Amino acid sequence: MKVAAIVGSIRKESFNLKLAYYIQHRYKHLFQLDVLNIRDLPFYDQDTESAPPQTVIDFKGKVAEADAVLWVTPEYNSTIPGVMVNAIDWLSRVDQVMVGKPSWIVGSSMGLLGSVKAQGHLRDILFASGISSPLLPGNEVYIGLVHEKINEKGELTDEPTIKHLDLVSGNFVKWAKEQSRLKQLQSQ
Ligand code: FNR
Repeated sequence: MKVAAIVGSIRKESFNLKLAYYIQHRYKHLFQLDVLNIRDLPFYDQDTESAPPQTVIDFKGKVAEADAVLWVTPEYNSTIPGVMVNAIDWLSRVDQVMVGKPSWIVGSSMGLLGSVKAQGHLRDILFASGISSPLLPGNEVYIGLVHEKINEKGELTDEPTIKHLDLVSGNFVKWAKEQSRLKQLQSQ
């Protein structure tokens, strides 16, 4: 199964980026995770959405060819970062490549609550008509105080968090496969 990761932080030492690569490595037996570049996306612009720059075409193409999307979000001012909103706006228009594509959300922050507010907003956005992405029910992953739970090699060190992620990643794969079977049946 191919999964595209959209990470809502573009800084080099981002904990959420490290988390995405940790997931990529730890669950490589379950799915192939492609961590997408959203740093080079221009600001969404309705004037260019039908003939967008190549970076947008490439980004949307990678999402289109993935079986599912993993959203890895920090929390900025109690919501998702602007770079993630920008990526979503591109995805929601013209060919609407997210429609019907399964999503899984994880997130971390240096605060105690581990991006809980940001994830709540992201969940609502996934219902928007231009996105309409079925979301893995339950199985929330909120990693608070993330700076105390990832080492310098980018590995999670907190055992309860690792155990939880192991459980949820297995649930995600089972659920995403069911979603694709359902889609096949509906198209028959
Ligand atoms: C933050 N941070 C933050 N944390 C949180 O738990 N709730 C919040 O509302 C905010 N707001 C916020 C706004 C802005 C502009 C910044 C730069 C930071 C702290 C945030 O959790 C921390 O910087 C994380 O390390 C950001 O994620 P990455 O970049 O490490 O993935």
